[in-house]
Amino acid sequence: MTDMGKGMAMARAWIGVLLVLLASGGCSKGKDPSESASIDRKVDELLRKMSLEEKVGQMTQVTLQVVAKDSAHDELDPEKLRNAIVNHHVGSILNVVDAAYTLDQWHRIITQIQDVALKETRLGIPILYGIDAVHGANYTRGATIFPQNLGMAATWNPELMRRNGEITAYEVRASGIPWNFSPVLDIGRQPLWPRLFETFGEDPYLASVMGAAYVKGLEGDDNRVSRPDKVAACTKHYLGYSFPLSGKDRTPAWIPENMLREYFLPTFRAAIAAGAHTVMANSGQINGVPVHASKYLLTDLLRGELGFRGLLVSDWADINNLHFRDRVAASQKEAVKLAVMAGIDMSMVPEDFSFYELLLQLVREGEVPESRIHEAVRRILRLKFELGLFDNPYPNPALKEKFGSEEFRQVALQAARESITLLKNEGELLPLPKTARILVTGPTANSLSCLNGGWTITWQGDREEFYPQEKLTILEAIREKVEPQNVRFVPGVTFDRPLDVKAAADAARGVDVVIACVGEPAYCETPGNIVDLTLPEAQLQLVEALEQTGVPVVLILVEGRPRVVRRIVDRARSILMAYLPGLEGGQAIAEVLFGEVNPSGKLPITYPRYPNDLTLYDHKYSEANGPYNRYDPEWPFGFGLSYTTFEYSNLTVAPSRIARGDSVTVEVTLRNSGQRAGAEVVQLYLSDLYASVTPSVRKLKRFQKLVLEPGEEKTIHFRLGEEDLAFVGRDGRLQVEPGEFRITVGPLSAGFELVNR
Ligand code: BGC
Repeated sequence: MTDMGKGMAMARAWIGVLLVLLASGGCSKGKDPSESASIDRKVDELLRKMSLEEKVGQMTQVTLQVVAKDSAHDELDPEKLRNAIVNHHVGSILNVVDAAYTLDQWHRIITQIQDVALKETRLGIPILYGIDAVHGANYTRGATIFPQNLGMAATWNPELMRRNGEITAYEVRASGIPWNFSPVLDIGRQPLWPRLFETFGEDPYLASVMGAAYVKGLEGDDNRVSRPDKVAACTKHYLGYSFPLSGKDRTPAWIPENMLREYFLPTFRAAIAAGAHTVMANSGQINGVPVHASKYLLTDLLRGELGFRGLLVSDWADINNLHFRDRVAASQKEAVKLAVMAGIDMSMVPEDFSFYELLLQLVREGEVPESRIHEAVRRILRLKFELGLFDNPYPNPALKEKFGSEEFRQVALQAARESITLLKNEGELLPLPKTARILVTGPTANSLSCLNGGWTITWQGDREEFYPQEKLTILEAIREKVEPQNVRFVPGVTFDRPLDVKAAADAARGVDVVIACVGEPAYCETPGNIVDLTLPEAQLQLVEALEQTGVPVVLILVEGRPRVVRRIVDRARSILMAYLPGLEGGQAIAEVLFGEVNPSGKLPITYPRYPNDLTLYDHKYSEANGPYNRYDPEWPFGFGLSYTTFEYSNLTVAPSRIARGDSVTVEVTLRNSGQRAGAEVVQLYLSDLYASVTPSVRKLKRFQKLVLEPGEEKTIHFRLGEEDLAFVGRDGRLQVEPGEFRITVGPLSAGFELVNR
């Protein structure tokens, strides 16, 4: 608990840092200007020596498969490697072939690549290797694996998120890789979307705080990514990727400008203010314009307004997609021109050299000015210098020391514990006594892949046989806590088919409690598309049959998005939302079940009750103004129970009238009124009562997680400034209007007024 307490204090400090960053509105890399000027000189010097081919090559990124032997997944083909790096001057490589490598395999691969770049090319420019390490170094065997971001958001603990970034950076660098395609800063406002679990949920403020903390974890406070245990962050997918109308990945989004700015832009603004070195473009389209072809989004807004100065990389094959998929370019060549002129600096081509060939032609024909090439290559070379690759691009064996260590595992375990969200606990069924006779059932009970989801060892994360067998599934973790003979396991169903529901129900009749583990198999990106948010029928039928036995049922939801469970909620006695808790998830769930850990997670999303009622917590007044329009989710955003109880009192907001430029101080007292120590997330919401653009009923503005002993109470303070009252006006600009505001914390609320002086 003390560590957790420390974490809370740090979390508070973190929110402070974020606010300063947001207020300063600019890039706060805190770099030494003379160092920066010296890098500029080196970049210019190098650029002067480079041929056009070498420059265009730097802008080209291919996947590892392009240089790998056909026969083995961890061996490179020297001829293919030379063809890429020497003949095509490729500047960057990404990804794995099929599955994660061990540290030694990575070291061999990276060394072989850098050897060719350094020893066999004219200028010896090192290769920039990039990887998706989205919940720990998930493409390196034996790495520390964290909950996916949706679960991390449920911890409401930015300090843990920062530690996640630090450990991930360490383990990615330990693999010899300096660039991480993470964090996903898309806002999860479309629950069908198969990448919801990669987001920090539906709220822009919570996601901004968590995202900025993670960027600082990856890059360090001063963003000096040359440090041996830091990597460059890549915030993605800029902008508006997460909101496809159909819910299916990479299908059209229709997002008006003020909505784009109000909900989807703030996280990117925060990450850029936190110094993120790179950005990846949104693979999809908004309002009929593919983002890879939008100069407005990629240059005017990103660079002109957000002040981003780093490298902008395309997403997978998305320049070609302008021609083959989206049909805004009549040829591949036109697609290259559109994307490069819109502002893409590096193309994740990734399977051939077409981009290189076509861009060369375009420059030679005068269709793309060389100045644009120089701008892009400068950014790429600058990053390589900043990462220290020109000093030493080889893996650092000293970093093997803490890789996958117990120290790191404990942090991932703590993250999993703090993410688990108790949604129902009728009659205080939980925590369970260790003497209970238990039936464990359901498709997520005995699988590591479904605890982890996509981006684990493989892209889809679904190769159960690749998972480290010493890690515990939910069933195994439960068996470790109680007498093994008191635990029975009958799966009952697969994810979508009955196996033997009757056998499960029969087994239930002989036990004290049933633990039904339901949810989703591992998936990611487009293969995770679904047509119905409802939990599959087979699983609903299993739980209904178990509930009919009268034996108390604990439901555990292991899922990347909120599958509708209305039919089985009322009769389940207790419900735990586990999200995708990672490799330590089984243990964390068992600790919560038996009361070794008091749950403190809070939903970072609205959990819908009906598949067609997807109203979010910060809806407009007209969405919840009477019996026909209600915010009626199964569980609201921010919700989560504890084994103890908390009482809020003495909310004050002072002064009650402020002028522009002033701030208000909010004070509230929280008391642990129950019998156990526990953590509560104090959430402060602001309501703007009247505004020229219809206001939301409330918006999260601050939060703080507190750990309290039974009977203990604490008073906490928050400060809100004028910028916290801002909204995106009719002209698309942030503005603040005078008038009345209401602050709500827990069950309490109080008002204040902003006046023009
Ligand atoms: C995903 C990105 C990822 C890239 C490289 C794309 O399909 O959209 O999030 O970084 O692949 O693996």
